[in-house]
Amino acid sequence: MTLDEFQSEAQEIGDAARQVLESADPVERLDVVKGRLNAAIAERLTALQRALGKLPHEDRRSAGQGFNALKNRLDEQLGDFERRQAAAKGAGERVDLTMPAREAWRGARHPVTLVVDEIVGIFRELGFTVALGPEAELPWYNFGALNFPPDHPAMEMHDTLYLEGEALLRTHTSPVQVRTLQRYEPPVRVLIPGNVYRRDFFDPSHAPAFMQIEGLAVDEGISFVDLKATLSEFARRFFGTAVTRFRPSFFPFTEPSAEMDVQCQLCGGAGCAGCKGTGWMEILGSGMVHPAVLEAAGVDSERYTGWAFGMGPARIAMQRFGLPDIRLLYDSDVAFLEQFVR
Ligand code: PHE
Repeated sequence: MTLDEFQSEAQEIGDAARQVLESADPVERLDVVKGRLNAAIAERLTALQRALGKLPHEDRRSAGQGFNALKNRLDEQLGDFERRQAAAKGAGERVDLTMPAREAWRGARHPVTLVVDEIVGIFRELGFTVALGPEAELPWYNFGALNFPPDHPAMEMHDTLYLEGEALLRTHTSPVQVRTLQRYEPPVRVLIPGNVYRRDFFDPSHAPAFMQIEGLAVDEGISFVDLKATLSEFARRFFGTAVTRFRPSFFPFTEPSAEMDVQCQLCGGAGCAGCKGTGWMEILGSGMVHPAVLEAAGVDSERYTGWAFGMGPARIAMQRFGLPDIRLLYDSDVAFLEQFVR
């Protein structure tokens, strides 16, 4: 082999390598492409290296330079291919800036919880703290201590959910009035949110398990004026209207008893489907705590008087958010509930 032949073979090997690398698809695996490159040039490269040693002495220097130049060229070509490969991979992963950002879902409070929190917040400013009691309750707390006569129909098996043994699922939060008065001396001002259970059908305005918020204030010299003033102030703060009315009512554990209505927020009192045409919405039952309840809880009813109320925050949430059916609140449909995220 002459020096000229040596140099032109080196040139051809470089060209052959370029052809293999330029025609390779950049998404191909690198080892596969390198295998093809070897198949094309490895033997020729070894032969060229051997030929180098057989060249006349005076040609070896420039032949050696040519051989090194070929190796550099091969390295460069392979480097080019690897860069093409990296660019192609990057193109597939490139961020599309026109996509809306994905926000992490941090969870949110349920509409009924929002209402409960707001009510608790208002009463906290009026001097009330929160008290809790058990949902599985003894009949004495749910009925007896609350002055239900022993043959009252609410205590029938078909009106209440009894558990095995002695307990029942409480039908209201009023038993916690008695539990609170047993634990704390007056003055007592508490708000009692919690779940209650009734054998009600699941219909647009009833649920068999629902939240209640009980309120209780017991102190010396408390009168019906305190009840009316406190509940009217609550209505003003929560509903933004002081237009309320009290209707006489009956509960065994309050005397006298009254239900409070607030002017309908949906129609402003004109009458609509939301208030069944009355212009009013029923918010709560209330009354002066019956002396028999105070005595059952161990409170001196000669010295202390008190008032109490119970309201249903789900009904209030329906009014607040304009919901036609209470069951929407219990379906756990995230697409629906998300609308109320604050
Ligand atoms: N416990 C009554 C009910 O569930 C509401 C109520 C509470 C009434 C306190 C008066 C006083 O219907």
